[in-house]
Amino acid sequence: MSVPLPPLLFVDDEKNARRVFESMMATVCPEFDIRTVDSAEEALKLITAEEFFMVISDARLGGMSGYELLKQIRGRWPQLPVLIMTAYATPRLAVEAIQSGAIDYLGKPFEPEQLRHAIARCANDYRKSQEIAALRARVGEAIRLDQIIGDSPSMQALRRLIETVAPTNATVLILGESGTGKELVAGAIHALSQRRDQNYIRINCAAIPDTLLESELFGHEKGAFTGAMRQKAGRVEEADGGTIFLDEIGDMSRPLQAKLLRFLEDGSFTRVGGNQELRVNVRLIAATNRDIVQAIRQNSFREDLFHRLNVVQFRPAPLRERGDDILQLAEHFLRHFSLAMGKNITAISPAAQDKLCRHHWPGNVRELRNVIERAVILESTPNIQAQNLPDFAVENRLRHLVPEKPLADASLEEHLAAYERDLILSYLEQNNYHLTRTAHQLHISAQTLRYKMQNLSLDTSQLTDTEELTPAEQER
Ligand SMILES: Nc1ncnc2c1ncn2[C@@H]1O[C@H](COP(=O)(O)OP(=O)(O)OP(=O)(O)O)[C@@H](O)[C@H]1O
Ligand SMILES: [Mg+2]
Repeated sequence: MSVPLPPLLFVDDEKNARRVFESMMATVCPEFDIRTVDSAEEALKLITAEEFFMVISDARLGGMSGYELLKQIRGRWPQLPVLIMTAYATPRLAVEAIQSGAIDYLGKPFEPEQLRHAIARCANDYRKSQEIAALRARVGEAIRLDQIIGDSPSMQALRRLIETVAPTNATVLILGESGTGKELVAGAIHALSQRRDQNYIRINCAAIPDTLLESELFGHEKGAFTGAMRQKAGRVEEADGGTIFLDEIGDMSRPLQAKLLRFLEDGSFTRVGGNQELRVNVRLIAATNRDIVQAIRQNSFREDLFHRLNVVQFRPAPLRERGDDILQLAEHFLRHFSLAMGKNITAISPAAQDKLCRHHWPGNVRELRNVIERAVILESTPNIQAQNLPDFAVENRLRHLVPEKPLADASLEEHLAAYERDLILSYLEQNNYHLTRTAHQLHISAQTLRYKMQNLSLDTSQLTDTEELTPAEQER
């Protein structure tokens, strides 16, 4: 597999030095593309917009120095190698440059062979890392169905649906709250599809600024916008033959949604600034944790795109609706983290199990995973104890006080009941289901609260009312 090599970036504020470098490169290693700039500031701008396989910079520059440039590159692009050159070489400076992360340090004048050697090494490393990344995209993170933990009926159905749909070319839409495993489902679909040996490209639409997302997806032609110095292929081209996973699709802008819709019709697209129509064969999986129906109503998401994506819909259930899966997942994460941290914690105490089952899990499986990781760190006995779990008070406050799903065709009374139910639930959870304390906070009697709970079908068997209110609480 041959990986195309991006150019090398040369930074020197002296015009003459740039010319000498260019002509030396043309004789010693003509196979490398080079770009030259006259300041570190320009270099940073360019590196932000384009890919380079290495940077060679003079130590002394007009504005920001070569050392400062080196520092910035180390912080923002840790993989990009930097070579520093200087006419004022001293062993101390060389050591300093290498310690701050330069791959090499050349004192002027240097032998062309020295330069060639350093550049060839970087080019080689670049190619290797690209090949490894491509390989990883193909096979590295293949997800098996048995890695999707949980035997609740909804999870069993989810696994069956994955098995049925994966081998087809159907477009898939995955909806669900944050942390419910949407990414896991997408990965499993690709891994079980006939495209599994081809690329699996993931793009998080919310993480890329809107202006860049289009060119990331569909590529751009040279000069398409400021900073587009060369042509760049889109990720859809990289995904040709394989699968593309568009995460957080609910955050995509409407104009780009229109372009995506066209792409979904027949796989054709044009690069930004281009007019040639290109075509690829890509399977699309999209996911969002937004309320897509609401987004369509608010006109921020195109209804036609929704229907085009919604060929097969997956909806991993919120964790709180998965019953015993909570404990099964907790034990799975316990085994994982205790092995990874070399600890010998084998079980979860009954009190801790109880606490886990009572929590509402607004962050779903991701939250549970973090909770268990933390507990394994803190635990000093062979069992996870309840006190090493968070008290969940902050998390509970994060819960929405308005119904999560808009109630279709509900009357005002039904809306109010749903609101009242959520509100009471949230107070109950903050008070660990203590009836009297919760009632006191809501300025109603315990009797009224119990009556309301029954009316709103809230489970009264969870109430923990054994203690009396403290005098201080009665004061409040
Ligand atoms: N059923 C499951 N079995 C094992 N691990 C799971 C399961 N569901 C989710 N996880 C793990 O929980 C974490 C969160 O899952 P994932 O990233 O797939 O969620 P998501 O739905 O994409 O969330 P978001 O909407 O926030 O992006 C990951 O570490 C994932 O591996
Ligand atoms: Mg996700």
